Amino acid sequence: MHSTMKHILTLALSLVGASALAADDLTIEITGNDQMQYDKKALEAVAGQEVTIKLKHIGKLPKAAMGHNVVILKPGTPLPAFAMKCAPAAATDYIPQDAESKAAIVAQTKMIGGGESTSVTFTAPEPGAYPYLCTFPGHFGLMQGVLTVKAK
Ligand code: CU
Repeated sequence: MHSTMKHILTLALSLVGASALAADDLTIEITGNDQMQYDKKALEAVAGQEVTIKLKHIGKLPKAAMGHNVVILKPGTPLPAFAMKCAPAAATDYIPQDAESKAAIVAQTKMIGGGESTSVTFTAPEPGAYPYLCTFPGHFGLMQGVLTVKAK
């Protein structure tokens, strides 16, 4: 086959693939407030789905006082132990940088303050129960939930 034709065919096939994926895209909106609360404690996705989590801080307090993020962890990650490693990591917006913690993170948003929004896009991993939390010190007790990924 002529190489240009082959290239066009490959391009056409990848476009078909992209639009098929787009139909499966999922956007989840979640808010955090000045009372240290998410509005959702249970999220759902399907394995392989492209998931965008939009976090909106609907409070007024600044990031330094009431910062919020969403950090999704691998199934079985113990939240208290993970949160303990987040607390001293102020320089990295309370995301621990040790190898074990980094390996436990599936997806994470930025840390934001009142009135701000952020988002993260990732591919939903294999089926399972993925705990998520806000890693700002002292928040995970209230600000936690579970992303349930179902089989396709
Ligand atoms: Cu928070």
